[in-house]
Amino acid sequence: MSVSIKSPAEIALMRESCRILSEVFDEMSKIIEPGISTKDIDREGERLIRSYGCIPNFLNYNGYPASVCVSVNDEVVHGIPRKHHKLKEGDIVSLDCGLIYKGYHSDMARTYGVGEISEEAQKLIDVTKQSFFEGIKMAKAGNYLYDISAAIDDYVTPFGYGIVKDLVGHGIGTSLHEDPQIPNFKQKRKGIKLEPGMTLAVEPMINAGGWEVCWLDDDWTVVTEDGSLSAHYENTILITEDEPEILTLKL
Ligand code: MF3
Ligand code: CO
Repeated sequence: MSVSIKSPAEIALMRESCRILSEVFDEMSKIIEPGISTKDIDREGERLIRSYGCIPNFLNYNGYPASVCVSVNDEVVHGIPRKHHKLKEGDIVSLDCGLIYKGYHSDMARTYGVGEISEEAQKLIDVTKQSFFEGIKMAKAGNYLYDISAAIDDYVTPFGYGIVKDLVGHGIGTSLHEDPQIPNFKQKRKGIKLEPGMTLAVEPMINAGGWEVCWLDDDWTVVTEDGSLSAHYENTILITEDEPEILTLKL
């Protein structure tokens, strides 16, 4: 395993890549409303990415056929956008998207409500988001990677939710997926020591029910085994000597 340490010049490019991606999310999420299709969201995402002169990094990644992963309700991640899959009032929809700016990748995900959503759905979204922030409290130089994993687990588990185990966060830089892998649940070991200049995509995926997931016949869409709702929250962060810098969050 080799974890890259970004130079100040590379960090500047990562910052810009991530800043643009958060703009894309702001714009793309505005079109979410009952009646639009998951394909409409993908089209808008791709249009925005290209409007900034950037490249969608998900498109054709291992054959993935779109620029945005659009996962509805019990779909956890990697939902393939479809013209005939229309969002309806009360759905929750997870958007996961990334781009390449001057060779540097960014990656981010959010779960949104479509119109009015149930209290249970909102709580799942809120806990998933907060679990990211609990996790990254541990993300500083000198701490260990799996301190992040344990902090997410310690926060989420008391709610009775299931933490997805089959998919994990990752390093990111000149590739979308770099070492190390970042599980969202407790590990027996400590993992690598965190160092300034590491850029990581931390991305808890949390199910309202059990943690188990399965894959649909399209070989991409991951769904909860028990049909419960699932939420996703991801940012690309930079490890520093103290607080991590959240590169995909606009200040
Ligand atoms: N968004 C995923 C991640 O966070 C990667 C998606 S790959 C794709 O790591 F091919 F599905 F786009
Ligand atoms: Co990611």
